[in-house]
Amino acid sequence: MKKILVTGGAGYIGSHTIIDLIESGHQVVSVDNFINSNAQSYDRITEITGQTIQQYAIDLCDRQKLEQVFRENDFSSVIHFAALKSVGDSVSDPLHYYHNNLLGLINLLYLQKQYQVHHLIFSSSCSVYGNAESLPVTERTPLKEAESPYAQTKQVCEQIIFDFLKVNPTFKSVILRYFNPAGAHSSNLMGESPHNIANNLVPIITETAMGKRDALSVFGSDYPTRDGTCVRDYIHIMDLAAAHTGSVQFLLDNKARDAGTIINLGSGTGSTVLEVIHAFEKVSGNKLNYSLTNRRPGDVVAVYADYTKANKLIGWTPQRNLDDIMLSAWRWEQKRSAT
Ligand code: NAD
Ligand code: WQD
Repeated sequence: MKKILVTGGAGYIGSHTIIDLIESGHQVVSVDNFINSNAQSYDRITEITGQTIQQYAIDLCDRQKLEQVFRENDFSSVIHFAALKSVGDSVSDPLHYYHNNLLGLINLLYLQKQYQVHHLIFSSSCSVYGNAESLPVTERTPLKEAESPYAQTKQVCEQIIFDFLKVNPTFKSVILRYFNPAGAHSSNLMGESPHNIANNLVPIITETAMGKRDALSVFGSDYPTRDGTCVRDYIHIMDLAAAHTGSVQFLLDNKARDAGTIINLGSGTGSTVLEVIHAFEKVSGNKLNYSLTNRRPGDVVAVYADYTKANKLIGWTPQRNLDDIMLSAWRWEQKRSAT
């Protein structure tokens, strides 16, 4: 059986996806330089699946080293997660973001071409839509100018893939635009373990409840939404992982009509910041210390997905809701804080 190369396999979404791939019978090789993770992720994958995966501690920007991985393995496909993802850091250090996120993809594509690995799944982001004109967002919703160098890297990477596909007609790609991934694995052995300080809402909520932070600031309460706070589409990490397995299968079964297929991955439900906080309070039984503060610059008012295309093409439907996300995130926070 040919293997699947997962880049960024020690990271949050990559590690959950590897579990789903293994449980679906695939053989996986991971490449990660641990710039935002550590090798413990692989131990947890082994604990959950009973399998030790083959892994390389390599920077994708080092093409010579990366070539070794292609030389030593026979791949059917690549799932490319490895990237830097902090919006704020990308504003303060744009060159680091452009270098890492663009060069990593370019090196991969060179090697995929050289070694004839025809399938690529790429991690993109709803941030490419910016302040969308209409909701819910479909794959045909026009992209807006990127709000940050991070979002710009996703727009440029998508373009690089489409340009590559135009001149390499035997290659196919699925570009997955994630909305707001959150939550943890049902085993409670794995979840989001940010290397640096968390800057997404769900881990900030659980860290506040755990006493790692004094209080949560709700960024803006005067938006034109049902309670004045921003609306986002939170998608459970296990649902997101399953969509990658579905996307690989879609390519392996030669079901892709287009060279590049863009797919939104969201729950289809918009939740306000206050609704997320209240869901947390309900499932955890804890009162959260939060206050309403100023808007955060660059925040879009509301964004949530239409996932009809994911359902039609890869048969995907989210199985878990906001309560499931918050409960799993809370259990994981308690577990990781105790160890
Ligand atoms: P993560 O930081 O947990 O995982 C990314 C992994 O890639 C990390 O383990 C990191 O060490 C590795 N990595 C980064 N650069 C590398 C390089 N040059 N060489 C080798 N390894 C490298 O992030 P995540 O949340 O799992 O995100 C995975 C992908 O999904 C990223 O491309 C991210 O931009 C995208 N995405 C994430 C979100 C989100 O909210 N988590 C939303 C939309 C899109
Ligand atoms: C969610 C909501 C905040 C923290 C980011 C990236 C996007 C994608 C997903 C990678 C917003 C509010 C947050 C806090 C708050 N990632 N909030 N207090 O901004 O939707 O998207 O992650 O691709 O590209 O931009 O996610 O978790 O930061 O914020 O009130 O302390 O929570 O204003 O409305 P965001 P987030």
